[in-house]
Amino acid sequence: MRTQLDTLVSAALQQGSAVPAFTCYDFTTALAVVAAAEESGRGAILLVAPKTAATPNGLRLIAALRGLADAAGVPVAVQLDHATDPQVIADAVSAGADSVLVDGSALAYEDNIALVRGVRAALEAQGRADVVIEAELGGLAGDEDRAFGTDAAGDAAGHAAGKSVSDQPAGLTDSAQVEDFVARTGAQLLAVAVGNVHGKYKGEPRLRWDVLQDIAVRTRIPLVLHGASGIPAEELVKAAAMNVGKVNFNTELRTGVLAVLEEQTAAHRADGENLQALLRHWDSSARTFAAAALATLSR
Ligand code: 13P
Repeated sequence: MRTQLDTLVSAALQQGSAVPAFTCYDFTTALAVVAAAEESGRGAILLVAPKTAATPNGLRLIAALRGLADAAGVPVAVQLDHATDPQVIADAVSAGADSVLVDGSALAYEDNIALVRGVRAALEAQGRADVVIEAELGGLAGDEDRAFGTDAAGDAAGHAAGKSVSDQPAGLTDSAQVEDFVARTGAQLLAVAVGNVHGKYKGEPRLRWDVLQDIAVRTRIPLVLHGASGIPAEELVKAAAMNVGKVNFNTELRTGVLAVLEEQTAAHRADGENLQALLRHWDSSARTFAAAALATLSR
């Protein structure tokens, strides 16, 4: 059953759990995620990247994900991730996304607030005041769709020293801004930068639990941890206790799917171009990863 993102996340937090969110570039992955969620009896979130949503086929994927969420046996939400373009947001919502991460984190503080408020006003004008808004405060290093080894300061392996892989300035969330930001944006969830990065971590991830704790006491809305790939399960289990109700995964899901495709493609070519059986390996990889994330976040 499709469920509002804030309802899904708040219900999980009340049980001491967080809800995993998985980037779906395709329907096979989404089917696997929902199957894993149904097997675990827990809800999940399907994320759509803005580059996906910016294409006509991406909008059709959102419509298909919405159908999948509607028919699921557990609560599922469909969210447009990291969006800044008002047209992409309007189109994604029309296609079926029921929540949006309005990502003004690369902007100056006041501009970030203005972006979120502007999107809220536009959604209301579109007759979609029901759309749940997540906002982001603090800059997360790394690329959302391609994984390079990045540290929290944005220094990436294989890139010029001191140069971020994204054009986004990396920086921890300033906890002193949290109350004002949440009040003025009206955000229903808050994504934070506490040493987490998108993509692969350069070295060991060093999450600033002290900063997270400081943020958690300043707002009642659920917090969101992006860049969960590479953060050990023993760390992720601590999230819900700090009001982190949503945890985003992408890279590790891709790593698993690409590895299994690399390993299995030749044999399946030889087996009469057996794409159907190859897709079962894709499903199994994504399903196993999603099941592990669901189990970790509800420990
Ligand atoms: P990772 O690719 O690091 O798992 O991050 C995913 C994410 O935060 C999507 O918004």
